[in-house]
Amino acid sequence: MYAYTAPFQNPAGSPIRELFKYLSEPGMISFAGGYPASDLFDIEGLRVAQARAYQDSILCLQYGPTDGLPMLKEQIAALMARRGASCSPEQMLITTGSQQGLDLLLRVLVEPGDAVLTEQPAYPATLQALRLQQARIGTVPVDGDGLDVGRLASLLASGVVARPKLLYTVPTFANPTGATLARERRIALLRLAVQYKFLIVEDDPYGDLRFAGEGVPSILALADQVDGSRDWVVHFSSLSKVVAPGLRIGWTVAPVEIARRCIVAKQTVDLCTTPWSQAIAAQYLADGSLERHLPRITTAYGHKSGALCRALRAGLGDAIAFHQPEGGMFVWARMPGVDAAQLLASAIERKVMFVPGKAFFAEQPDAAALRLSFAAPGVDAIQEGARRLQQAYQALA
Ligand SMILES: Cc1ncc(COP(=O)(O)O)c(C=O)c1O
Repeated sequence: MYAYTAPFQNPAGSPIRELFKYLSEPGMISFAGGYPASDLFDIEGLRVAQARAYQDSILCLQYGPTDGLPMLKEQIAALMARRGASCSPEQMLITTGSQQGLDLLLRVLVEPGDAVLTEQPAYPATLQALRLQQARIGTVPVDGDGLDVGRLASLLASGVVARPKLLYTVPTFANPTGATLARERRIALLRLAVQYKFLIVEDDPYGDLRFAGEGVPSILALADQVDGSRDWVVHFSSLSKVVAPGLRIGWTVAPVEIARRCIVAKQTVDLCTTPWSQAIAAQYLADGSLERHLPRITTAYGHKSGALCRALRAGLGDAIAFHQPEGGMFVWARMPGVDAAQLLASAIERKVMFVPGKAFFAEQPDAAALRLSFAAPGVDAIQEGARRLQQAYQALA
């Protein structure tokens, strides 16, 4: 009856959000969703920050600048400097979650039919955004060390992928694989971006959630070491996984001319990110609360990750294969010979959930893959959830 735009004639909703209806079932243990642990929110630190921020109530209640409150941009620049990356105020905009940063960037850069690359498997909301933008999505496989940059080099050299505008990657504790791109691959990727003139879109919401192993600088930070590469990096990050997703505070660091255009795009999307939230976030960071609180989160996630990996090995043995993550929120697993969608149906009957891997593939989905998040459930629930998963698996056989 209505004349919809092409991308909205038959739009597919988020496959992960479809699972939410089961979450409210009593007794459900969820390894699905990318929710951080709600019992680890720094409620007191945020309460203090909120009270201090509201002392300037007009700032909180009035519209703010589209690119973000200067006080928050200053704090984010300091946070980025602690992470090893410099950025000027002109290179940065505050967004309503980092998800909005991607949406704005695609509006600015991607026309229908444009070639873009993503890692495979990839974060589904990115695939959804690229599809709605009618991009032509090519994929580059991922292994235990992240994106297979050697494979990317040969795809580009052979012309199989011609003139991609951008390559999207979550290089640190990826969603869904949990993998971290090795340092030398980051450098090689930066060189390829300069050579072939494509933007590396680095999505980094999880980088601070390291609980084991050695830190690796972000691609943005390493761009200082590869001549000309800083012009080819756009970096997103967020307070969602380290403070609280309800704040809806993310940011983009981009070359100035791209940042300027994203700000114009944002003017028509929401005018500005909620100043109240921004002021709370700025105060929280200025108080030093993030550095004080973060170790509580990473320690807990380390325990939870260990508990999940041990329970899966104990319960499923050779039936399941995965890399143990060094940070983030996810275990990406394969169960050879199993259809993860069928396993999910059996699992839901036993009150445990995960995300079947299919949602993370732009093409040629691996039916045997699944993503398990260890962040939200407690250790006891993780152990019980793994037991239920084993029963669900046995019921399939
Ligand atoms: C890789 C990745 N990027 C972006 C987001 C969205 O984050 P935000 O809450 O900052 O919009 C998520 C959330 O799950 C994510 O996993």
